[in-house]
Amino acid sequence: MTGPTIVELDEYAARRARLMQAMGPDGIAIIPAAREVIRNRDVHFKFRQDSDFTYLTGFPEPDAIAVLAPGRPEGEYLLFVRPKDPTREMWDGYRAGPDGAKRQYRAEQAQEISQFAAMLPSLLGGRARIFYTLGEHALDPQITGCVREIREISRRGASAPVEFVALETTLHEQRLLKTAAELELMAHAGKVSARAHVRAMKFAKPGVQEYQLAAEIHHEFALEGLEPGYGSIVGTGANACVLHYVENNCALKDGDLVLIDAGGEYRGYTADITRCFPANGKFSGPQKAVYDVVLAAQLAATAELKPGNPSSRPHEVATRVLTEGMVALGLLKGDIATLIKEEQHRRFFMHGTGHWLGMDVHDVGRYKVGGEARPFVPGMVMTVEPGLYIAPGSAGVDERFWGIGVRIEDDVVVTESAPRVLTGDVPKATAEIEALMKK
Ligand code: GLY
Ligand code: MN
Ligand code: MN
Repeated sequence: MTGPTIVELDEYAARRARLMQAMGPDGIAIIPAAREVIRNRDVHFKFRQDSDFTYLTGFPEPDAIAVLAPGRPEGEYLLFVRPKDPTREMWDGYRAGPDGAKRQYRAEQAQEISQFAAMLPSLLGGRARIFYTLGEHALDPQITGCVREIREISRRGASAPVEFVALETTLHEQRLLKTAAELELMAHAGKVSARAHVRAMKFAKPGVQEYQLAAEIHHEFALEGLEPGYGSIVGTGANACVLHYVENNCALKDGDLVLIDAGGEYRGYTADITRCFPANGKFSGPQKAVYDVVLAAQLAATAELKPGNPSSRPHEVATRVLTEGMVALGLLKGDIATLIKEEQHRRFFMHGTGHWLGMDVHDVGRYKVGGEARPFVPGMVMTVEPGLYIAPGSAGVDERFWGIGVRIEDDVVVTESAPRVLTGDVPKATAEIEALMKK
């Protein structure tokens, strides 16, 4: 692998310290690892660690629980992990075990996972707030059951935890602002993913299958140790108008426009790129007309990712440029402001213009605070991905536009100065795409 290395142990420690600071001395956080999921009979889906858990621990195994208990004399950072097991390790691979959790991952205390239930009452006792996201984990009944027991005892004098707090306002606010190390990983994911899109564009021609383009993309990811960060979308022709099209089983036809939405995940951080290009290497007149409207909207929206601007601004700007374009193309008729107010644009542009990006493709972090769109701050990363989708048979629309679907998506970092595009290595101007495909 040629990319940047993993996040350093010091950074995990700093993240835990920040979270504990935000929780306060009478809080406790319980963060379960992801679980293995059966694919079929004895076969599991490839394991992917929970993003919150990775963010705080770097610990890569399933069946683990992290506990952060500020001020706890026996240790503020506990890891409950799978036991060492020579037989299982012979079949399934290395386990750190409690000793490894301390030695390799700096847990101050580590226990086998089977000890969690027994230790929970003493961990929760005297804590006023439990930072734990209810409704997401199999652990819920154990935690709520323990709280109930403590409550019963508290009637006889002990104090009870009083509040469950979801992680949105603490941990997810932290994850929203990327550190330098995180941005380095994301830049690498963006670079490799851009290269993968270039490779697919060069490979494309009429007769090639959508899954073959996906294979080109995934090969480029794999060469650098990346995996798809989400299900890759390769839609040729009207398939591009299906927003979450993942069948990827049609052949490219001469005259089709092809949409690829694919991003590689590198050491837990994903890119998210969409590009559209003509199967035969040359945009038709109507394809170019639609494409250029989307590109204008994408460029205008990207320029709005500046500190202080509300995070809703890119969508407002994209919506305006797209609506003006839709009127110019004859897709919509009427006054621009009225069309937007009545949300008529949603007939052809039915999704948002971007989302936070990071460990999760639709990353954590609130979009509104106190009912208002929050202002951009350096370190936030957002996608910019306007699109137009003109389904076949769209009533009242010139048939030349039927079946054209265009989305253009880049990953953009808010900085003190100009927005930093992490995915700029794959071209998006029509002339550049045509030149690339000619080679
Ligand atoms: N690839 C998912 C998205 O663009 O939101
Ligand atoms: Mn996206
Ligand atoms: Mn995407």
